[in-house]
Amino acid sequence: MELFFEIQLLKGNKHNIKTLPNGRVFYAQNSLFLEAKTRTMFEIIQTLHSYLAYVALAVLFFAVANAIMGLVGNKMFTMGKDLRLSLFALILCHIQLLVGLILYFVSANGFSAIREFGMGGLTSAARLLAVEHPFVNILALVLITVGWSRHKKFMEGKKKFKSIALFYGLGLILILSRIPWGQWLN
Ligand code: HEM
Repeated sequence: MELFFEIQLLKGNKHNIKTLPNGRVFYAQNSLFLEAKTRTMFEIIQTLHSYLAYVALAVLFFAVANAIMGLVGNKMFTMGKDLRLSLFALILCHIQLLVGLILYFVSANGFSAIREFGMGGLTSAARLLAVEHPFVNILALVLITVGWSRHKKFMEGKKKFKSIALFYGLGLILILSRIPWGQWLN
């Protein structure tokens, strides 16, 4: 079904962007070469963003769980496990953010959708991808970065764990609230 629509678009080239009933948007450009190039770039970045999401979310989850256990158990914040896990989560989330930013400009579901339809013209599924997911994830990354910076200022293990648990935890909740679950797990 999707393929049929794409071929029709490329041949007819009547519209630049077409939304399918399932909310996914496809676009055609004037020359086939440009279309193929953009699609390849899009597919690579989308695949990377899609698989990196599993790793980033898993490590972020472990960092939050570890910080909560450290806080509740009144443990010492170790430079080995605790620092590494928090730093690893921070780095992976930042890489995911960067990949997401690139994806936003090569995907028909990102900035192109807003440019073509305007904010008011987006369906709720399209708005999730073009507006809510990017905006909320950037906010989540700001919180995670604040949590990391704050933890460095404290000497006490309890305060360090609290900063990571609170800010990383809020970031994780925000990210989970705006994942396009239906599209991702299909
Ligand atoms: C930690 C942060 C993020 C996570 C965990 C995440 C995760 C995901 C996942 C799981 C998908 C669905 C992928 C699929 O369909 O297989 C997705 C799609 C998408 N993400 Fe993110 N994302 C994050 C940040 C961002 C940011 C910051 C932006 C843009 C500024 C962004 C832009 C997009 C776009 C445009 C799509 C739709 C791609 C398409 O299907 O055309 N993401 N993201």
